[in-house]
Amino acid sequence: MKAVELFAGIGGFRIACDELGIKTVWANDLDPKASEVYRQNFGESEHIEGDIEAFIEQIPAHDLLTAGFPCQPFSSAGKKLGIEDARGTLFENIVQVIQKRKPKYFVLENVKRLLSMDKGSHFATILDILSSQGYLVEWRLLNAKNFGLPQNRERIVIIGHKDHKPKTYLCSEDDLENLSDRERTLISHFDHWKKIEDHGASFKNWGLALNGKFCQGRVTTFSDSMPPVKLKSILERKPDESFFFTKDTIERIKNSEEVNRFFNGVEILYNQKGGARMGYSIFGTAGIAPTLTCTASRHYERYKIGNEFRRLTNIEYARIQGFPDDHCDCITRYNQYPLYGNAVPPT
Ligand SMILES: C[S@@+](CC[C@H](N)C(=O)[O-])C[C@H]1O[C@@H](n2cnc3c(N)ncnc32)[C@H](O)[C@@H]1O
Repeated sequence: MKAVELFAGIGGFRIACDELGIKTVWANDLDPKASEVYRQNFGESEHIEGDIEAFIEQIPAHDLLTAGFPCQPFSSAGKKLGIEDARGTLFENIVQVIQKRKPKYFVLENVKRLLSMDKGSHFATILDILSSQGYLVEWRLLNAKNFGLPQNRERIVIIGHKDHKPKTYLCSEDDLENLSDRERTLISHFDHWKKIEDHGASFKNWGLALNGKFCQGRVTTFSDSMPPVKLKSILERKPDESFFFTKDTIERIKNSEEVNRFFNGVEILYNQKGGARMGYSIFGTAGIAPTLTCTASRHYERYKIGNEFRRLTNIEYARIQGFPDDHCDCITRYNQYPLYGNAVPPT
């Protein structure tokens, strides 16, 4: 199989494809630092740096299209019946590639709020456009913590394939256990699926769409039969001094209010008092990490590790996201944080 990776960043999908023996024949990203990391790890030949808009015509034939695309608001200018207009957005570039190259499969990844953004009309537009290109589209909300990573990271994964039998690839029979009998029966009766334009305010955590119609349900979230990996198990033993907080910060942390509670699996030890700017949490390591984000600011993450206070290291970021420790070695430590935060965990 041959893959094309759009919005490739540092190559989260690339690592997964390499492991599965799927050959990436073309990849693109706009960001110079992400592109440098990509080329350093995977070579120069398949990667093109620049705005995707300029390269649509040169994308080669492929079987699998992957993309963790940036979430931009669609225009409501052409809005009718809750279906918005995707023209001029990065999502439209994905659609152009699908229309031109007709890959057998696609795998797209995005943030959870896509399901409820703009009262569901954003996701409805995506489903409507994708399912009208001759693909059976399936989505499911997945959490990195259920895949052996110590992070609470919920992401929506959307797959498409040319198999027109309404069938689920992202769920096992057990996962469908939560669905009502009616919902289960509905899956195999396409005639009874709803029109996408009649969607509600938010989409559920799983569903199928085909030819402008869809069915959905709240499927079981992965059980805790596999307990999440704890953050403390992936920590570096002797991180560099630069990751530790200064005396000033530690003094301020002392004025924090004790919380000592787990929230979504994340251990919160203290919250700082004293206005919005100071209202940061201090996390423990007995649980998992909160979602890593693309912000480079060290203020958002303060961890108490043993008796010391520090931020996570770039290597810990790599491990939390399922990348090799040295994946971003060719750029500064500081610049690594947002790239890992933006990436799709290859796992
Ligand atoms: C959510 S990140 C995807 C990260 C990637 N999946 C990974 O594993 O690192 C979105 C990426 O889209 C890129 N991007 C944004 N606008 C773009 C454009 N017009 N053309 C190409 N890439 C773009 C960003 O630089 C960023 O790396």
